[in-house]
Amino acid sequence: MPATSPSRAVATAPGSQPAVDPGLRTIRVGLVGCGAFARFSMTHYRRLPGVEVQAVADVDPAAARRAAEELHAEARPAAALVASADIDLVYIATPPATHHPLAAAALRAGKHALVEKPLATTLADAEDLESLAARRGLVCVANLVERYNPLAHAVHRIIESRILGGLVHGLFMNDAADEGLAPGHWFWDRAASGGIFVEHGVHFFDLVASWLGAGTVVAATRSTRPAGQAGGGSAAEEEQVACTCRYQLNHHRGPSRPARSESPADRHAGVLFHFEHGFHQPSRMDRQEMRLVFERGELRLFDWVPTHGQVRAVVDDEAAEALAAMLPRSSSRTLDRYDGSARHVRGRFRDFEADALVEITFSLGLEKLQLYGEVVAALAADQLARMRDPTHVRQLTEADSVATVALACDADRLALAAD
Ligand SMILES: NC(=O)c1ccc[n+]([C@@H]2O[C@H](COP(=O)([O-])OP(=O)(O)OC[C@H]3O[C@@H](n4cnc5c(N)ncnc54)[C@H](O)[C@@H]3O)[C@@H](O)[C@H]2O)c1
Repeated sequence: MPATSPSRAVATAPGSQPAVDPGLRTIRVGLVGCGAFARFSMTHYRRLPGVEVQAVADVDPAAARRAAEELHAEARPAAALVASADIDLVYIATPPATHHPLAAAALRAGKHALVEKPLATTLADAEDLESLAARRGLVCVANLVERYNPLAHAVHRIIESRILGGLVHGLFMNDAADEGLAPGHWFWDRAASGGIFVEHGVHFFDLVASWLGAGTVVAATRSTRPAGQAGGGSAAEEEQVACTCRYQLNHHRGPSRPARSESPADRHAGVLFHFEHGFHQPSRMDRQEMRLVFERGELRLFDWVPTHGQVRAVVDDEAAEALAAMLPRSSSRTLDRYDGSARHVRGRFRDFEADALVEITFSLGLEKLQLYGEVVAALAADQLARMRDPTHVRQLTEADSVATVALACDADRLALAAD
């Protein structure tokens, strides 16, 4: 058994200040749910300094035994693990509908919780976790890794700089593989997963919220697998969902919860973002693309944890250079050059001058899985820093985790109403 840090109590009375625990160095982790994603995450958590895996739990004893061996930890029943005195943080990597009861039990026992996405499958349950964590000064976030990608930060800087003019609309096309999702997998069972918006869409709602702040769902729909191809469940499998959200750019740094009341004048203003998620492709055709359309150009990101992308824009030479400098490992080429009156460009009733139509490609120089590991580790490191120092300002908060559930549940409700 690894050496442990001194036992500590982090629970405080309701309404009191977050517990300050300057002595907390080593964080002792208990894992609940030893499936595919937990094995991936644990590889990356274990390389962070001051992390010790103490115990594991799974309803499947074989899965628990295998994880215990791999992680040199003890297998315990989940109820015992979340209440164990030698655990500081419970990492919950079970199917979505079990997240709330497990995380609530961990928080009530005074443990921090790192919960796989989604935080919960209903807004009420997500809010309950947020309030339990706040009352006890504990961390309880969902593993929403997208905002930890360095490319997400670069895109944010480009939006804020307005170097491409204003953002007009966005589109995320997610044609995902279902090869690993056999008939009968919990993913197809809405009672277990919460549906595609809730189980999966939260990642991208959170990414866009990190750029644009709160959004509201204005339309949503879904489709089920054609008759005869359903996997054997009682209900037809939902395989595709789509929604449109509106973001008010003046809410940029505002609260990350959806803005529910808009003045009539505001109703049609703002940036529209379209999200498409389908699980129907062979693994070798799994592909994603995000397009951000600005007044003077377009930025595209590829892969679902984006590793590379492209900008095409009508800009002056100075802006082209600045853009290239804002993007990692960038390479620019001029597609068309303008002189004299051809430099005059007009769009959205506005005039500007441009020297060229340029194409800039950029890349992090990492394979998708490498980057995935990096963002998983970055989120954990950020949250561990908060557990060690309650004044540490995190990139992702409980409120952000709840906001994604709120948006996803709104989208799901609208889609079901349109069935
Ligand atoms: N953050 C990400 O990028 C990311 C990626 C993939 C999956 N996920 C999330 O991770 C979670 C798990 O997904 P997975 O693909 O690893 O699923 P999985 O089916 O491979 O693993 C889930 C494990 O949990 C166990 N389990 C189920 N109910 C339990 C309970 N009540 N107590 C203890 N163990 C229980 C199962 O036996 C199984 O071993 C899901 O919430 C999923 O959305 C997140």
